[in-house]
Amino acid sequence: MVAELTGKHIVIGITGGIAAYKTMFLIRQFKSSGCDVRVVATRSALEFVTPLTIETLSQNKLYVDLFEPTAQRDVQHISMADWADCVIIAPATANIIGKYAHGIADDALSTLLLATRKPIFIAPAMNNQMYAEPTVQHNIELLRQKGVHIIEPQCGFLACGTTGTGRMEEPENIFTIVQNHFKSQQLFSGKRVMITAGPTYEPIDPVRFIGNHSSGLMGYALAEAAAEMGADVTLVSGPTSLTINHPMVKRIDVMTAEQMYEQCMAIASEQDVMILAAAVADYTPKEVASEKIKKKTDNLDIQLVKTKDILASIGKQKQDHQFLVGFALETQNEKVNALQKLHNKNADLIVLNSLRTKGAGFRTPTNQVVMITRDEQTFESELKSKREIAYDILQVVNQLTNPQDVQE
Ligand code: CTP
Repeated sequence: MVAELTGKHIVIGITGGIAAYKTMFLIRQFKSSGCDVRVVATRSALEFVTPLTIETLSQNKLYVDLFEPTAQRDVQHISMADWADCVIIAPATANIIGKYAHGIADDALSTLLLATRKPIFIAPAMNNQMYAEPTVQHNIELLRQKGVHIIEPQCGFLACGTTGTGRMEEPENIFTIVQNHFKSQQLFSGKRVMITAGPTYEPIDPVRFIGNHSSGLMGYALAEAAAEMGADVTLVSGPTSLTINHPMVKRIDVMTAEQMYEQCMAIASEQDVMILAAAVADYTPKEVASEKIKKKTDNLDIQLVKTKDILASIGKQKQDHQFLVGFALETQNEKVNALQKLHNKNADLIVLNSLRTKGAGFRTPTNQVVMITRDEQTFESELKSKREIAYDILQVVNQLTNPQDVQE
């Protein structure tokens, strides 16, 4: 038995590839770790492994067809989508990857993938040239951006007789990756985490405001990831069109920098970790016109005054046990400016985004960051989904606050 896996509901999807035989070991490993395992296979998968083997190992009924009559009156692919704590597709062919990336649901497995909101792990396995093919790579990228965990295939001897990248990751390594995912779910249990997200809107008159391009995606991804890691999360959000639906996330909506400041300062002293990802306006109109400003003169001057700096204010009153994370979006002298912000605002970690990196920054589903500590320890991430970046940031926060439980 493995503590973090005991009682977990694992759905394993098998598609048609020779590596399907290795998935039998994966089923057995999850079963012997105390998980309840249900398997959904495609018709082609059953050319490689038999229903009897799967059912014997999983000790559960195998699901293949979408319209199978069932004793219970529930719709299986929907109920299984909710039942699962995670879904693992191993091996994943180019076909299932393409279908999922483009929202096609024509069998039990592809339908389940669209229906679930649970973490999904995909372990591709195919011929090396197929794997390198741009369409396949593009589809994998789309899935990555959706937050799917891609378990990279390995380089080695392939069933087609060639050697190259396309061999499914070994079952024991897939198992470890999933196990680490569940371990990370407990990293923040009992911790209070406050996150700011989105832009602020500073009103000029009843119809106009000064805003910025922040979409809120990074802050929302952080709130979701922190909640998935067991934290009690308060998300203080500027205006965005995003939604969040997690029982551990309490969302407080604000409009202006002043409102965000008030809400954050009211709860800051109760928090363990505070991550300030919002793009707060630095200046706000000194006066807000009570009526719509009419177009009369060639020039219009609006006097702006500085807003309160939330990160710096929290930094000033930070208690020893609290961990404060700031963001820095820079266009030049990135590291020097970020470090200066870290020290000026008394943060413990600064997450640097560069607008120069393609695919990072505002309104993109992906990001690439460098995290810098007060003693200039740096952690660099690759370009990946904001959800994955959120996990990386929280892993680093955990590592810095609990150095004893660093994961391998
Ligand atoms: N921040 C804040 N309150 C503000 C302005 C910024 O809490 N009024 C926080 C941001 O959420 C971010 C960090 O401070 O975590 C850095 O924000 P940034 O806009 O990059 O820095 P500024 O201090 O505003 O400096 P500048 O705009 O001159 O680069």
